[in-house]
Amino acid sequence: MIKTVIPAKLNEEKTKLELIDQTLLPNKEVFLYLDEREKIFEAIKMLRVRGAPAIGVAAAYGLYVCMNKMDTDSLSEFKKEFYETKDYLATSRPTAVNLFWALDRMQNRFEEEENNSLNVIEMKQALLDESEKIFAEDQAMGKAIGEYGLELLKPKMGLLTHCNAGGIATSGIGTALAPMYLGHEKDYDFKVYADETRPLLQGSRLTAYELNKAGIDVTIICDNMASLVMKEGKIDAVLVGCDRIAANGDTANKIGTSGVAILAKEYGIPMYILGPTSTIDMNTKTGNDIEIELRDEEEIGNGFGLRTAPKEVKAYNPAFDVTDAKYITAIITEKGIIRPPYKESLKKLFE
Ligand code: MRU
Repeated sequence: MIKTVIPAKLNEEKTKLELIDQTLLPNKEVFLYLDEREKIFEAIKMLRVRGAPAIGVAAAYGLYVCMNKMDTDSLSEFKKEFYETKDYLATSRPTAVNLFWALDRMQNRFEEEENNSLNVIEMKQALLDESEKIFAEDQAMGKAIGEYGLELLKPKMGLLTHCNAGGIATSGIGTALAPMYLGHEKDYDFKVYADETRPLLQGSRLTAYELNKAGIDVTIICDNMASLVMKEGKIDAVLVGCDRIAANGDTANKIGTSGVAILAKEYGIPMYILGPTSTIDMNTKTGNDIEIELRDEEEIGNGFGLRTAPKEVKAYNPAFDVTDAKYITAIITEKGIIRPPYKESLKKLFE
């Protein structure tokens, strides 16, 4: 039985958003209990909760707990506050489409129920129900992605991953790490190489933390070692997550992913993107239309409180890059394995 930490859920009383503070991992497991929108915004922005699916769940539950504590009988007052909170949370991070997808689902549910003339108490119940559905669907998708992903792998393979697309980034067993967990249950004996993932080290702090905890053989490497380990024949497949997949298959994921994909192509290694269909945005035509988050320069020159560059020197800190569809061997979703040409296959998926 695979056990992973759930990054975003409701507390027992269903009054607060419970997060494990991922900025403190792997050294400390500290839980946060939030019901103020500014604190929830801060937790998403500062990556206390991170990973596209977990951001979506945190936003949906976050919106619910903020609305649940509002004391009013007036549905119009409640609605005004709902839209303000929703719009505010939507500005916490720009790239992962799951944030907008989850908030839009909450809004659609609100509008649907408004037509059914619900009162405020009933509306709160409907919002709770929708956020719990988002959580449950997210939990289920990991297993399905894992099963499809495992079809593409063989025992004893060497696998490379970048950033963290594991249990700590979703409500279940992750996306890119899901086949590793399922393979582990079947004694596949994978050798996983985790890129450290500069500058915030999601690979060494989070991927290594959770795979190691599960007893999976994991080795961290610095990002600039990927070419060497591929050349040495240690890697049979690359498995990564995604923050937004455009309608043509171009995929935004953690900065550095596109370089890994280009290397994989050069060395003839399959490059798999694993993610739920909620990460596919058919309204985004190509990768050029994806907004890339720019983060604080200090994360590079003064990461984790250690100054590693002169104070006066500028740093450029894009948090994501886009891997062109031509480098992607397949996209693995909870609905199946999608192959090129992606424009056609993704369109078909949503028909
Ligand atoms: O900045 P982060 O840590 O939120 O970036 C996360 C990633 O890039 C993940 O690979 C992606 O969100 C997929 S998580 C299943």
